[in-house]
Amino acid sequence: MIILVTGGAGFIGSNFLSIFVPKNPEHLFINIDKLTYAANPLNLEKIEGLANYRFEKVSITNFEVVDRLLNKYNPDLIVHFAAESHVDRSIIGPSDFIQTNIIGTFHLLEACRKHWKEAENKKNKLFHHVSTDEVYGSLGLTGYFTEDSKYAPNSPYSASKAASDHLVRAYNQTYNLPVKITNSSNNYGPYQFPEKLIPLMIINCLEGKKLPVYGEGLNVRDWIYVEDHIRAIWTVIEKGRIGETYNIGGNNEWKNIDVVKKVCELMAEETGCDYSEYERLIFHGEDRPGHDFRYALDSSKIRQELGWKPRETFLSGLRKTIRWYLSNRDWVNSVKTGTYRKWIEQMYGNVKP
Ligand code: NAD
Ligand code: TYD
Repeated sequence: MIILVTGGAGFIGSNFLSIFVPKNPEHLFINIDKLTYAANPLNLEKIEGLANYRFEKVSITNFEVVDRLLNKYNPDLIVHFAAESHVDRSIIGPSDFIQTNIIGTFHLLEACRKHWKEAENKKNKLFHHVSTDEVYGSLGLTGYFTEDSKYAPNSPYSASKAASDHLVRAYNQTYNLPVKITNSSNNYGPYQFPEKLIPLMIINCLEGKKLPVYGEGLNVRDWIYVEDHIRAIWTVIEKGRIGETYNIGGNNEWKNIDVVKKVCELMAEETGCDYSEYERLIFHGEDRPGHDFRYALDSSKIRQELGWKPRETFLSGLRKTIRWYLSNRDWVNSVKTGTYRKWIEQMYGNVKP
């Protein structure tokens, strides 16, 4: 197979490539990524130079480029991770979210419609869209989102992802484009950019900086270890039904304040410092506007139909994640000092995407 992965230099995409490129030497993987602030060349160290891996620095917002790449590689499978992914940034400036998440997805779909038009050819093709549980909006204290839950996005980020999900679905219904969609809960693990809750807390603990908890910290998220998520995506690609959506949740609901305290506790165990050294850094700041109260996914469809289940509990995954950040100080420093941006400039200059 020829597999085109978008956004493979970011958190989840790089975990996907780092595992599946070496495991599948018979498949060629092409990573197309704009290399935004969220991308880091160090994320791909393990696969750089492998014979079945190629990289193209491009933006999916440029239709001519996307069209040219589909023509050049004629992929059998597209796994679409590329997105602007941080809710807080979408509140400050939604524009890039609309461009990449909606227009970028539209361009990919249009290019597939053009290149995969012969029915015979289409049978062996697949567009796999990676999405989020945030499209369903917010839950109260009880209940779960299922694949049939109403879409009710509350942030510009989740609204842009919801729009992209709708486009993907519509291309299947209208043009018979072979698509699958997965909606996953909050991921954590190696290579996550430290603007998201868990890596931010780990790195701030290390640096003795404040641990900002929005509001009272009572909002609830359902956490999934990134490797469990990418195994689920692979399972859906291999065994899922065309035109279907599958929820991928970790069944690990935690209040934010409890997540932060657990990070402090495991950090203390791993570094030998006192728990109180970390815990005293917690401070309750302003709440996020439109802050969704609770996300929780019912993943019984993927579990029962396809036999997937997560391997990590929240505590085992969190310990692995903390150990990874503690033993990958070069990665942490490259992000903190911005050297990863300089490498990108050296490698690619100011080439327009
Ligand atoms: P990320 O922000 O870490 O990485 C995104 C990647 O996309 C980066 O490498 C970036 O350079 C690239 N990119 C951005 N704009 C682009 C463009 N215009 N053209 C080409 N590449 C572009 O994000 P992530 O956390 O790895 O998320 C990956 C996907 O998974 C996203 O679609 C996100 O919505 C979805 N998702 C994430 C989570 C989570 O908890 N992180 C949960 C559910 C779903
Ligand atoms: P985040 O990692 O940004 O993911 P998302 O907003 O997509 O769920 O945030 C996870 C939760 O943690 C969310 O409820 C907001 C909260 N949060 C904080 O309390 N403090 C922080 O510094 C950050 C980044 C998030």
